[in-house]
Amino acid sequence: MTQVIKTSEAWRALRTGDLKDHSIGFVPTMGSLHAGHVSLIKRSLQENAITVVSIFVNPTQFNDPKDLERYPRKDEEDLALLRSLQVDYVFFPDYKTLYPDDYQFRVTESIISSIMEGSSRPGHFDGVLTVVMRLLNIIQPSRSYFGEKDYQQYLLIREMVRSFFMPVEIIPCPTVRDADGLALSSRNVLLTPEDRQKAPMLFRLLSSTQSTDAIMIELERHGFHVDYIIDYEGRRFGAVYLGKVRLIDNVPLNETH
Ligand code: PAJ
Repeated sequence: MTQVIKTSEAWRALRTGDLKDHSIGFVPTMGSLHAGHVSLIKRSLQENAITVVSIFVNPTQFNDPKDLERYPRKDEEDLALLRSLQVDYVFFPDYKTLYPDDYQFRVTESIISSIMEGSSRPGHFDGVLTVVMRLLNIIQPSRSYFGEKDYQQYLLIREMVRSFFMPVEIIPCPTVRDADGLALSSRNVLLTPEDRQKAPMLFRLLSSTQSTDAIMIELERHGFHVDYIIDYEGRRFGAVYLGKVRLIDNVPLNETH
């Protein structure tokens, strides 16, 4: 039976009581769940006695208020899906529960977060790191699962946990894609049908042997507005806009590049 937990106190009572000696897998999400989230959840279910999924659309990581307003939400469907997967606990906090200080205290990183998503979305990673630290401190999982889809986010969380000696294992999980290659994202539903058709070109070109400059030109030619195409730490990263919708993706670089 899936149990919904809304407060840190309710979870703490379980964590220090009945669940004291269990391995706990934790998958933080912002809801609007899709097969990408499900792959992380299934991995946690396999590897841990107990799995916790959190749903919280974290306002502090949205640099653009319109993006926060537009962010898709489907709580009831999400809960039904989590029940069908036999997830043990859903942590469903409100803003006050996670931010008793109203975001007076925050986690800031100064190197990895200064490029790509960090430079395009000021404050974004402060919000991500701060909420993830709070969630990990509340849940106190043995392992926590993150998607390579958001590889820069994964790197930052891995390094935060190492730097602050947090006793949790951070596990990266491969990007889940639609059949045409488009990385699954909660924002994909916001694409117009024509833009949805175009969108897989980002992954196709990132995976090609062309230079970053050539990829940028090709994408612009097809009506994408390119934010960046960058090689970093053995991977090729891209961020584009199709209309108002921002898409990001990344692939490992191989010898052909
Ligand atoms: P959200 O976008 O809901 O993603 C939750 C987790 O699912 C993240 O680790 C993300 O990388 C992973 N994910 C998303 N799409 C994926 C895909 N196509 N394949 C594999 N994994 C995928 O990322 C966040 O929420 C937030 O920043 C959060 C970490 C919850 C903090 O608020």
